[in-house]
Amino acid sequence: MKNQLLKRRLGRTNLQVTELGFGAMDTPQVPEGKDALLSAINLGVNFIDTARIYDGSEFLIGQILPSFNRDDLIIASKTINRTRDGAQHDVDRSLSLMNLNRIDLYQLDDVAMEDWDLILQENGALEGLKIAKYRGLINHIGISSHDLSLIDIAIESKLFDTVMIEYSAFYSETYNLTKKAYQNDIGVIAMRPLGGSGRMTSLRTVMERNSLSDNITPSNLLEFVLSNSNIAVSIVGTRYPDRVKSNVETVLHYKHLNNSEKEKCKQAAGKLFELL
Ligand SMILES: NC(=O)c1ccc[n+]([C@@H]2O[C@H](COP(=O)([O-])OP(=O)(O)OC[C@H]3O[C@@H](n4cnc5c(N)ncnc54)[C@H](OP(=O)(O)O)[C@@H]3O)[C@@H](O)[C@H]2O)c1
Repeated sequence: MKNQLLKRRLGRTNLQVTELGFGAMDTPQVPEGKDALLSAINLGVNFIDTARIYDGSEFLIGQILPSFNRDDLIIASKTINRTRDGAQHDVDRSLSLMNLNRIDLYQLDDVAMEDWDLILQENGALEGLKIAKYRGLINHIGISSHDLSLIDIAIESKLFDTVMIEYSAFYSETYNLTKKAYQNDIGVIAMRPLGGSGRMTSLRTVMERNSLSDNITPSNLLEFVLSNSNIAVSIVGTRYPDRVKSNVETVLHYKHLNNSEKEKCKQAAGKLFELL
C-alpha cells in the first residue's frame, strides 16, 4: 500500500496532479460539502475542479483555501462564455469568488461543435483566456466537451494544454481520445469517472436500487478509470467526507486492472445500464 496519493504529470502543463481529483460541482448542495472538500485536501488530493456555472462551488472553495498553502493546490475552473470579454469577465469573477490572484487552469466549458468557430474567432473566448494568461491571471488553458468529434478537433488543433473527457466503465468509448491527447502531450482530465451524478448510471441511483455487484462497486469503477494511464487525474464528484475517505483508500490500495478485469467491469456496467 502507498502512504500517499501518487501524482501524474498533466501533459504539457507539467503540473503534478494527484491521481484522484475533487469534482466540486455538487459539493455545495449539502451541509457536509465543506467538510468533504476539507478532508479531501487533508488526505492529499491536490486537484480541485470547479466552474462558473456550478452554483456556490467557487464560493465554497474560496472559504476553505485560506486554511491551506496555495502552492500545494491546483485549482481549475471553467467558463461557458464564448466571447473574449465574457471569458475575461468570468476569470475575474472566479478570482474574486475564490479570493485568488491566479488560477492554475481555466477551461472552456462544455464546448459543442457549433461553438468551435465562436471560441476561435477574433473576440472569441480563447482570445479572452489568452489575454487573462498574458495578464498572469491564469496559468494554463483547457477545454471540456461531450462531443467526441469536437474533442478530436481540439486535440489536433494543439491549442489547449488540457482536455476534460468523460471516461468510465459506463462510457469507455473515449479511450482512443484519451490516448491521442496523451500522445500529443495534452493533459487528460477524466470527468464523471463513476458514471456521473444525477443520471441513470449515477452511483446514487445504482445504490438506491441495490444494484451494486462484485464488478460494480465505487472502488471497481474508480480502479477502472485509474487503470487508464493516459488519464492524469480522475475528478470524482463528492459531497460527503466518508466517500472522500473511501475513494482515497481505493486509490492508495489499487493496482491496475488487467484487460480481462476491465472487460468484466465494462460488461457489468453495460448490463446495469440496460437494467436501469
Ligand atoms: N465539463 C463538464 O461538462 C462536466 C460535466 C459533468 C461533470 N464535470 C466534472 O466532473 C466531476 C465529476 O462528475 P460527476 O459528479 O457528475 O460524476 P462522478 O464523479 O462520476 O460521480 C459522482 C457520484 O458518485 C457518488 N460517489 C462518489 N464517491 C462515492 C463512493 N465512494 N461511494 C458511493 N458513491 C460515491 C457521488 O455521490 P454523492 O454526491 O452523494 O457523494 C455522486 O453521486 C464534477 O464534479 C465536475 O467537476 C464536468
